[in-house]
Amino acid sequence: MYEVGVRRGACNSPGWTVCSGPILLADTTHRKGLESQLHEIALDELEVSGSIPAWLSGTLVRNGPARYEVGDRTLNHWFDGLAMLHAFGFQDGRVSYANRYLQTGAHEAATRRGRIEYSEFATDPCRSVFSRVQAMFSPSLDGGATPNANVNVVRLGERYLALTEAPLPVAFDPRTLDTLGVARDAAAPGQHATAHPHHDPDRDELVAYVVAFGPRSRYVLYAVPANGGARRTIASLPVSRPSYMHSFALTPRYAVLCEFPLVVNPLRLASRARPFIENYRWDPDRPARFLVVDRQAGDLRGAYETDPFFCFHHINAFERDGNLVVDLSAYDDDEIIRALYLDRARDPETVFPTVAPRRYEIDLDGGGVRSRRLADVMFELPRMDYRRHNGRDYGYAYAASLRHPGAPGFLDQLAKLDVADESVATWQEEGCFPGEPVFVAGPDAEGEDDGVLLSVVLDARSGTSFLLALDAGDLHELGRAQVPQHVPFGFHGSYFRSA
Ligand SMILES: [Fe+2]
Repeated sequence: MYEVGVRRGACNSPGWTVCSGPILLADTTHRKGLESQLHEIALDELEVSGSIPAWLSGTLVRNGPARYEVGDRTLNHWFDGLAMLHAFGFQDGRVSYANRYLQTGAHEAATRRGRIEYSEFATDPCRSVFSRVQAMFSPSLDGGATPNANVNVVRLGERYLALTEAPLPVAFDPRTLDTLGVARDAAAPGQHATAHPHHDPDRDELVAYVVAFGPRSRYVLYAVPANGGARRTIASLPVSRPSYMHSFALTPRYAVLCEFPLVVNPLRLASRARPFIENYRWDPDRPARFLVVDRQAGDLRGAYETDPFFCFHHINAFERDGNLVVDLSAYDDDEIIRALYLDRARDPETVFPTVAPRRYEIDLDGGGVRSRRLADVMFELPRMDYRRHNGRDYGYAYAASLRHPGAPGFLDQLAKLDVADESVATWQEEGCFPGEPVFVAGPDAEGEDDGVLLSVVLDARSGTSFLLALDAGDLHELGRAQVPQHVPFGFHGSYFRSA
């Protein structure tokens, strides 16, 4: 928590403050959030300050990396860390907490043999084990091991699944956080999947895409029924240089893939010469393309070009006046991927690339694509009232944000964007670094923002984390529940209501 000693020039450096006397310094930078958490705990009740709404009755499950050191090696990238699930249980204003590692092939190799034996996003095993272990992202993946599913969690019928970009979901028990094994019937029919499937409420099915590599690579859109029925292919689109994509958009009529000019030669990927993402190349001469798929017909409505850009996360999409509106968190290029290698991401002096909420309006009849920034605010890990507004016009989006774009530092505030008037409200606290805000609608919600935002926040001053509950209307704090250790920065989570 504290470092003892004098760092030359430390008192004048950003992020270092004198806590007690001249030689006891607190690291108030974000670094702790990217350090491993080896302790698994289960607490019936966290200390609450303020007030957690009594109507919250359910569990917020969050997913993210929690271990970066394996044997004498360190994984390379934030996205590579070993998956840990965190469960915050809510009942009558009380909050419980538990965290457990997902029991994966990579976790077993790390804990039993002290080795990295599986390929991750930006890390490969040492060459001696490489030849005999299937690479997680290799085109010849046959799904032999439980993948390091550290990105997201979703509910599919009565099952709860942890997801990454490998094609095999991992089932878990949200009460005990026990790992239940690979959900093979929900496997993606390809190699590079999305950790951000959509839910179609009308058909009660999961809708997702996967990249199937081969001599004739394809983007395959597919659906998996919640009731356990057979997987259905919606569309299959040929592609010679598949793009690195992380999420997509879904409206009642269309599925929208945005192909960024970050592309791979499938043969290069097959050679396994480099870690997965390092096979992709940014080609500034290629446009970005929106591939709009008619879900009913199963064919391409059109491919619509625009200037190159990159994004991890779509916010929402909907049809309006013959146009397709697509909102997303946009970067100018793929530099963010390099900025999130651990050596750079942990460095308090790193300046992260700007990411802004951007709106693309696509004239489906060929009149072009227009885009504009919705607000001058950093906007990453975006969420909205998904259940009531996904695929439809909407009023508000929420995200983790950065107070001072262009200056050193990590995500250090939460932001609410009013999509209509493009105004922004924020929550921030000195030394605090919040993660993705999950919106939970109130029991009698009328307005779109009647509800709470739940976010796990690192308090660098104490080296611990807390669960923050904000009023989604004006972002004022309702209460917080203190975790007695730090929760490493994760990616995504879902709130599951109690039955
Ligand atoms: Fe994501």
